[in-house]
Amino acid sequence: MAAASTHRASRPPVGVVEALGTAVPPHVVTNDDLAQHLDTNDEWVRTRTGIAERRFADPDTSTGDLAVEAGADALKAAGGDVDTVIVATTTPDRMLPGTAPEVASRLGLGDASAFDVNAACAGFIYALPVASGLVATGTADRVLVIGAEVMSRIVDPDDRSTRVLFGDGAGAVVVRSGHADEPGAVGPFDLGSDGDQTHLLEVPAGGTRQPIDDHAIENRHHFLQMDGREVYRQAVRRMVSSSRAVLAQAGLEVDDVDCLIAHQANARILEAVADRLEIPRDRCVSNVGRYGNTSAASIPLALADASLEPGQQVLLTSFGAGMAWGSSLMTWPDLPTPDPT
Ligand code: ACO
Repeated sequence: MAAASTHRASRPPVGVVEALGTAVPPHVVTNDDLAQHLDTNDEWVRTRTGIAERRFADPDTSTGDLAVEAGADALKAAGGDVDTVIVATTTPDRMLPGTAPEVASRLGLGDASAFDVNAACAGFIYALPVASGLVATGTADRVLVIGAEVMSRIVDPDDRSTRVLFGDGAGAVVVRSGHADEPGAVGPFDLGSDGDQTHLLEVPAGGTRQPIDDHAIENRHHFLQMDGREVYRQAVRRMVSSSRAVLAQAGLEVDDVDCLIAHQANARILEAVADRLEIPRDRCVSNVGRYGNTSAASIPLALADASLEPGQQVLLTSFGAGMAWGSSLMTWPDLPTPDPT
């Protein structure tokens, strides 16, 4: 017993997920709802994307509002406070400051450190190793990692090729320090980016490179622009190679993976990633049909839809604008039983 604990104590600490939380806006928008305004139809959207409906925030609801709701849910489940808040988002409440400090204050977390991570759809996967590093180095005791987006506000309401894809929502996890053999342990990680491909998926105006002026508005540059086919191709390629890289780091085989949770971009991307990795579809989580692509919120929202036993091996992988991508391994946490109140 003493030998085992000595062995354990000598190994470096890692981040351990101990609770989950979610928030989605109540307003369900079906494909038929969108077809009332756009030249699209339910059959096209379902066939090309697998998306049947998504949630849109009402005009008074911001990314921070959803983040607070998901964060409160996770904190309640964890049964205690945190000393750091990371909000992964590409739809922040404002250009300056970050969304996280206000979220931390609204959650009653005093002077907790708080900052945003912007890696678009890969934001949550980038925030997870940051949180893990903070607890492993003793910089933080417990970190609340929230992926939150109001994508509906940056997508062109008149562009059928992007409007149908995205939805709004938030998901959160609480990360504490622990050991690699505990349920909920996260890592290793694989992260990457390719800034030569920025033009494939961007909101060109609104930052320092291009202000929002009449010219930008006329060209719809204040809304998301996307080369869908190329994004599709790269998303599959990068999520597969990054997944293989993280498995190799851990010395694991694909057969060791009990569950694949890939960024919920669309059903065809999810299927292509699973097929190329040779992971059976019944070991994959998919909720894209209900929520669409919620960007940085998609992985934690999918975590909340997974039903696993503590200790089972989960492979997380994501890809998004940047281009930026990443993968992580995680063993399924020993989650607290939800409090019905
Ligand atoms: N309804 C009806 N027709 C449409 C719609 C729509 N909503 N959108 C596009 N079309 C039309 C196009 O105008 C085109 O018409 P045309 O042939 O007359 O020109 C036709 O459908 C085919 O368009 P494509 O873009 O070639 O269709 P494709 O089969 O490539 O599917 C899609 C488009 C679904 C966007 C696909 O490329 C895709 O899934 N890409 C990935 C994009 C993505 O997931 N982005 C999310 C952000 S990044 C990430 O999260 C990974």
